[in-house]
Amino acid sequence: MAPSPSLLNLIATPGRSALTVNLRPRKIAPEVIWLPCAQEDPMAYNLLGLTANAYLLLLGRQAVAVDATSPFIIPLLHSILREEKCTLSALLLTHRHIALAGKPQGQGLRDFKRAFPRAPVFLHPSDAEHEEGKVSGFVYDNPIGSALLSALGVETWEFPGHTRGHVHYYLDRSGGVLCTGDSAVGAPMHRSEPGRDAMCRAPVPVNEDDGEAARQWSDFLHNSARPSIATICPYHGKVYRNEMPRRVEFLLDQLRSPWPTVVP
Ligand SMILES: [Fe+2]
Repeated sequence: MAPSPSLLNLIATPGRSALTVNLRPRKIAPEVIWLPCAQEDPMAYNLLGLTANAYLLLLGRQAVAVDATSPFIIPLLHSILREEKCTLSALLLTHRHIALAGKPQGQGLRDFKRAFPRAPVFLHPSDAEHEEGKVSGFVYDNPIGSALLSALGVETWEFPGHTRGHVHYYLDRSGGVLCTGDSAVGAPMHRSEPGRDAMCRAPVPVNEDDGEAARQWSDFLHNSARPSIATICPYHGKVYRNEMPRRVEFLLDQLRSPWPTVVP
């Protein structure tokens, strides 16, 4: 089976020039601070130009962190929260792989709990029950139907495929902010040409059910009532900000392809 075009692009352009990209935390929308990290997965960064990304969503005087389990990111949170005059209300995990960050596995999450003992950690029950979800050894909150997330204005959408309990987090502000975790991978960091920077699904060996991921994207993109999206925040690779609707269609179109993303 042929690799998808996006992966061919990705492989054909090694990430050397990604080393020149500015990886300091920065505000990409009034409510979103992007926290890119090259050290969390150095092979993905050095070979493919793919960072591991965390995000801080600013919600008035409160904030929630998304996928912020890297030991390289956690020390930054206190200073950014101080600067933004916010307190951290929760950590949202898009899926169970994020709970494994750090050495030994799960150390990032344990560090997070030490730094922010009062902030609940959200993970879908299907992933929380999985062996990988249990590595950190503590109990998660369920993001589905959470009163806290609802009060903060954060929506949780079930989006199985990469893992059974994968979810997206969505904020209906600034034209719509979508955190995709690993169900959509951003282009390499240095890739800025508008026609070559679309998103792709994660490589098939790391998806629990790649066909389901493709179906989920197909249903999502066919749904004419879906909320608007202007900022797309994946766990890996480039972030997309302030995008026009037609470009969002282009960026997401390949995710519904029946062709899996294959690592040759
Ligand atoms: Fe993952």
